[in-house]
Amino acid sequence: MDYEERIITTNLKTDEESIELNLRPKKLKEYIGQKSVTDNLNIFIEAAQLRNEPLDHVLFYGPPGLGKTTLAGIIASELGVDLRITSGPAIERAGDLAAILTNLNDNDVLFIDEIHRLNRSVEEVLYSAMEDYAIDIIIGKGPSARSIRIDLSKFTLIGATTRAGSLSAPLRDRFGVISKFELYNLDELKLIIKRSADILGIGIDENSLTELAKRSRGTPRVANRLLKRVRDFSQVKGSGTIDLDITKETLKSLGIDDEGLEGLDREILNMIIERFNGGPVGIDTIAASIGEDKITIEDVYEPYLIQIGFLHRTQKGRMVSREAYKHLGIEYSDD
Ligand code: ADE
Repeated sequence: MDYEERIITTNLKTDEESIELNLRPKKLKEYIGQKSVTDNLNIFIEAAQLRNEPLDHVLFYGPPGLGKTTLAGIIASELGVDLRITSGPAIERAGDLAAILTNLNDNDVLFIDEIHRLNRSVEEVLYSAMEDYAIDIIIGKGPSARSIRIDLSKFTLIGATTRAGSLSAPLRDRFGVISKFELYNLDELKLIIKRSADILGIGIDENSLTELAKRSRGTPRVANRLLKRVRDFSQVKGSGTIDLDITKETLKSLGIDDEGLEGLDREILNMIIERFNGGPVGIDTIAASIGEDKITIEDVYEPYLIQIGFLHRTQKGRMVSREAYKHLGIEYSDD
């Protein structure tokens, strides 16, 4: 199955974007989890408003699907300003960025997703935009080329990345607030699923909430996607409200096991066990062995496998844990 089609994919699918938008909280008090991130932001937002200044630039990092874009939207809405959303790969040339920046008003929020994928020339324009609210544009070519300075409105940049480590130091240093997003715990996921079920107008019992939360890989985007699939099953084959039977049937037919693992997670673990006796093995070797992109493995699959203790990162490479052997029904041997 293609990565895009897997149920656990944390990329937004276009046909789901509008529902996803409806499920997104609009205010900070509706936002569940990431408490240390939101508590701090609450103060910084209030302080910026008191001084009638733009909020300092903010960098969000952590695995995909944890609500970074959602929180950027909430910040803009709490500040009562416009939000402009773009992404690193979408801004191809310095001129593209200049066009976006010159259209912002004072205190507006510019959200750049996948900011680690900006190219160098664009990134350099961003430095002065962030620091001085001004950009230098080169007009003309050759000996007659000259640079003109354009002043910008005082905006806030919110950058999001799955990997803070791949941001250049000069860019990282220009963010006044750097916040790490963590995977969500069971209680938080249950609240998120219940809230979404209410918005979708479908009943769900407590056992099903727990079951879905357990299998959502700590990720609200996955939780909401599973909820929508269970809703489909319950409306077509069940009673119209979600109970444990229909939840289990749905998860089974989607190939998601008791720990929330799907095909590729099990493939990664099985491959390390069978070909490398459980590890240690390097990430490049894992990627080559299963024919998946290294960054996808690191950003999408590993965080959850590490969180549930099935995979360990060591100096020498990745190692599969005893618990993972047990889960997969494979006998563990020390040698
Ligand atoms: N939907 C997705 N992420 C959410 C969050 N953190 N809180 C509430 N609803 C959400």
